[in-house]
Amino acid sequence: MPKRSRRIIEFGDFQTPLELARDVCSALYRFEIQPASILEPTCGTGAFVQAALETFPTLQVAIGYDVNDVYVQQARQRVSSLDVKDVNVSIRQGNFFEIDWTQVLAELPDPILIVGNPPWVTNAKLGSIGETSNVPQKANVDQLRGIEAITGRSNFDISEWMLRQNLQWLAPRSGTLAVLCKTTVARKVLKYAWKENLGIQEAKIFRVDALHYFGAAVDACLLVIRLHPSSTTAECHVFPSLQSKHPETVWGWRDRRVVSNTHAYDRWKHLISDEFQGWRSGIKHDAANVLELVQINGRFVNGFGIEVDVEESVVFPLLKGSDLISQSVPHRWLIVPQKAVGEDTRRLQQHFPKTWQYLLQYASLLDRRKSAVYRGRPRFAIFGVGAYSFAPWKVGIAGFSKQLQFVPIAPVDRKPVMLDDTSYFFPCASQEESTVLLRLLHSLPAQELFSALIFWDAKRPITANVLNSLDLLAVAREVGNDLDSIHLLLQRARSKSHSFQLPLF
Ligand SMILES: C[S@@+](CC[C@H](N)C(=O)[O-])C[C@H]1O[C@@H](n2cnc3c(N)ncnc32)[C@H](O)[C@@H]1O
Repeated sequence: MPKRSRRIIEFGDFQTPLELARDVCSALYRFEIQPASILEPTCGTGAFVQAALETFPTLQVAIGYDVNDVYVQQARQRVSSLDVKDVNVSIRQGNFFEIDWTQVLAELPDPILIVGNPPWVTNAKLGSIGETSNVPQKANVDQLRGIEAITGRSNFDISEWMLRQNLQWLAPRSGTLAVLCKTTVARKVLKYAWKENLGIQEAKIFRVDALHYFGAAVDACLLVIRLHPSSTTAECHVFPSLQSKHPETVWGWRDRRVVSNTHAYDRWKHLISDEFQGWRSGIKHDAANVLELVQINGRFVNGFGIEVDVEESVVFPLLKGSDLISQSVPHRWLIVPQKAVGEDTRRLQQHFPKTWQYLLQYASLLDRRKSAVYRGRPRFAIFGVGAYSFAPWKVGIAGFSKQLQFVPIAPVDRKPVMLDDTSYFFPCASQEESTVLLRLLHSLPAQELFSALIFWDAKRPITANVLNSLDLLAVAREVGNDLDSIHLLLQRARSKSHSFQLPLF
């Protein structure tokens, strides 16, 4: 990778065009934000510092920091050409993770506006390009590990950590945070503020066309949070653009979760239950070239184009998330070496010797599968397999689907269809059962409740958690459905014992 683009990735470096920085500051001015000081903790070439100096007549102090000294020079040049004699402006070189922010904050009179566009990079991305210099000192590494421990996530945006810090600084005083960031980051930051009770007086999100302004295909927004120690609102109005006057929806903090439509949530929250776990995710297998087959002239062929001779009983039709979205019929097959997670695969040697030989032939690839789910498991194991996988009928949906599109899945050649781990499904014993289930899922109460829980800007908007929140029995009562058939469906899905006929292997 060329040195420059590597550096751009490492520092999440997308400089804001002056035009956008000006639009943001004008919008803030319209909302009657009248800061006495502004802080841009990662100011780059200083577009926001310039826009703020041009916009806010109340400013007394403006401080910008950036880790990149070339940008610091450019930002200094930029502000030196502005007529801002009454404002104490200072652009400094510094690493966010090393700056003594207590001292800096003491220089800033209230009310403060923390404005800007923190780096667009995740710690995992830094790892994948072999970079750790954006977290060069031991202290920084520890801080990043700290957030990993706090969030319970190993992949997080550096900006999320910075924005959490910004809010902590503002919370005991009063001030505003107004930043461009990924919409998913905005949501996590809001969740943090609500959970920690940081005193949100007002919160707004304005969607921003990141492709237009930054050439980046991500869901981005301007997040504005006004803090005041004695305030609390549990709602955030979401506007389709910076210019819009009317929100498209209202996000909110309800029952310790962030919801994407407070109106729908408040109307249908009685349909939520955390007791029910009928939805499953599909099979995780990796090594797709070995385990996934296609049929050519009636013969199985693997991903290397090699003809494969394995016993038919261990091969099942497969649908991937993308197939569910396009509603295709299965055109791939999956070798399923186990009926349950943890089942000993050595029994294949005796009952399915051709399959065992085939797996041995590709053992070096299968043994090298990286995911931790295979560690300590039988050789050639797959994950997410159980009696439910062999349910003859299913209702499925892709995790990355951008609409609530539930699909009935029929057996093929009397074999149950397997799904991959980008999909979720509900096991059904018959076509009738899947029809009843689909009717419930497509009913107005279910659709509205899901729409209050799903964030379509997420990479994987549909999750097992969201699907399993819906109490199907409560929906059936709501829409006056036949309760007996739903009882049976739920009972079977809940049952840990073998509730579907298992294949003979
Ligand atoms: C998305 S750019 C935005 C720059 C500027 N805020 C703007 O709106 O144009 C992110 C900036 O963060 C800076 N940066 C990245 N890591 C940093 C760190 N650890 N400390 C300070 N600045 C950092 C980069 O040099 C880059 O200028």
